[in-house]
Amino acid sequence: SAERTLILVKPDGVSRGLVGEVVGRLERKGLSLVALELRTLERSVAETHYGEHASKPFFGELVDFITSGPLVALVAEGPRAVEASRGLIGATDPVKAVPGSLRGDFATEIGQNLVHGSDSPESAKREIDLFFPGLS
Ligand code: CMP
Repeated sequence: SAERTLILVKPDGVSRGLVGEVVGRLERKGLSLVALELRTLERSVAETHYGEHASKPFFGELVDFITSGPLVALVAEGPRAVEASRGLIGATDPVKAVPGSLRGDFATEIGQNLVHGSDSPESAKREIDLFFPGLS
């Protein structure tokens, strides 16, 4: 049965013109778009989204970066959408991400790793509610 996940094309992906590359790979994998929006995040939304990293030394940098310009937030749906999209995205460290994954093909820096995908169905629910409240 269908599962949903939240994907962000981060500001580096938008400024580099890689939105189509990310969305195209999700679509070609067989996931469906349920919601999609270009927006620049308020700091408070970014801090809530990344709340689990609040005590990390890179938290300030992470929030600065994710609020630095427009990003694309989208909800993708399909069988095991969380795991399927994380496979497409690749490991958090883009140098370790396998070639063929989005980060493996298009990124080099952990802080500017192009895409975010929810890490579990529970995180997906929380993140979808944050970005698209009221989505049915
Ligand atoms: P993301 O999947 O969006 O979830 C948390 C983000 O924190 C992660 O991608 C990275 O972009 C970022 N991150 C993780 N580790 C570091 C680090 N050591 N330095 C800077 N950013 C990091």
